[in-house]
Amino acid sequence: MSVPATGGAPTAVAEPILQVRGLVKHYPLTQGILFRKQVGAVKAVDGVDFDLGAGETLGIVGESGCGKSTVAKMLVNLERPTAGEIRYKGEDIAKLSSRALKAVRRNIQMVFQDPYTSLNPRMTVGDIIGEPYEIHPEVAPKGDRRKRVQDLLDVVGLNPEYINRYPHQFSGGQRQRIGIARGLALRPEIIVADEPVSALDVSVQAQVVNLMDRLQSEFGLSYVFIAHDLSIVRHISDRVGVMYLGRIVETGRDAEIYDHPTHPYTQALLSAVPVPDPEAREHRERIILSGDVPSPANIPSGCRFRTRCWKAQERCALEVPLLAVPAAFRYEGGPAAHPSACHFAEEKQVVPPEEKRDLPSGEAPQEPPKS
Ligand SMILES: Nc1ncnc2c1ncn2[C@@H]1O[C@H](COP(=O)(O)OP(=O)(O)O)[C@@H](O)[C@H]1O
Ligand code: SF4
Ligand SMILES: [Mg+2]
Repeated sequence: MSVPATGGAPTAVAEPILQVRGLVKHYPLTQGILFRKQVGAVKAVDGVDFDLGAGETLGIVGESGCGKSTVAKMLVNLERPTAGEIRYKGEDIAKLSSRALKAVRRNIQMVFQDPYTSLNPRMTVGDIIGEPYEIHPEVAPKGDRRKRVQDLLDVVGLNPEYINRYPHQFSGGQRQRIGIARGLALRPEIIVADEPVSALDVSVQAQVVNLMDRLQSEFGLSYVFIAHDLSIVRHISDRVGVMYLGRIVETGRDAEIYDHPTHPYTQALLSAVPVPDPEAREHRERIILSGDVPSPANIPSGCRFRTRCWKAQERCALEVPLLAVPAAFRYEGGPAAHPSACHFAEEKQVVPPEEKRDLPSGEAPQEPPKS
């Protein structure tokens, strides 16, 4: 991943299925009622580059408002980019004919954050999961659909007999399973999961993450997995990109990011990961960031993190740091030698290795639905 205008190659991925380059989404800010005049822009996504390898999981993490959902929406074509490219198997999807685009859309599906609001309460589970077949009837002929939906319910660990029930009859975790079944209906290659477990209880989060893990191997899926909780992303990701105010500020393989973070923002996020052991918690250094996240309509000059960074110096206000392997680590190699957009990148182990939160393994047995 790299900052577009200034160069730098994303971390190499053997066989990229998706390549994102210089992705930008600016929402215009206008003034006036009769004569609307643009007075600025909300820079929700401000130059994001990454590759997604076939069969791998890229975790994208960052605080609320940093642009994660906007990236997700552009990947599945719910929003059009202001600039940049999204290449699926080498082809820029913005340049495809509408027929070719329809096929690409089928292959990139989204799982939404909130299983309470993303499912239509007036539709049965069968209709919800089977709805994508209305748009892509070629995937499942009408006579096959009921059976397909029942198979999908089974695949996500729900009883196929629940097909005629309504969303309110299910728990939060079960509803997210329904959302995942719907995401799988068209047999996509890529799933963009936008905070799929953030609205769920911690115990249920683990079950849904484990389910997604299993489905990935079963169906050979590639995931873009978005979260604000670093511990959840670690469990499922091969690589992680840390986002701040519309850009990726550090990226690498999961062990590089968790055990050898070099960007102050990543270090601060890691210092907030819950540590279950009270003794270890006492010895762990908490990095409290000062101030609020600046508005994406008014991004600081130079390093966009500088208004909250405890290491900021004059250079940070003047020069935009590139997302590249910092010079200090470039020649020695090792796990700290991964891209980090900081002029003063330094390695700092924030989470002691024995303290990484492990999620309980296995998926829970089916709960009976509420009557
Ligand atoms: N349609 C829109 N119009 C204007 N601003 C928007 C719109 N959608 C999102 N934003 C703004 O863009 C920024 C990024 O939002 P979002 O992508 O939802 O962040 P995240 O998912 O990381 O919480 C936020 O400041 C949000 O208010
Ligand atoms: S470039 Fe400066 S302000 Fe930005 S993260 Fe590094 S030290 Fe902090
Ligand atoms: Mg979001």
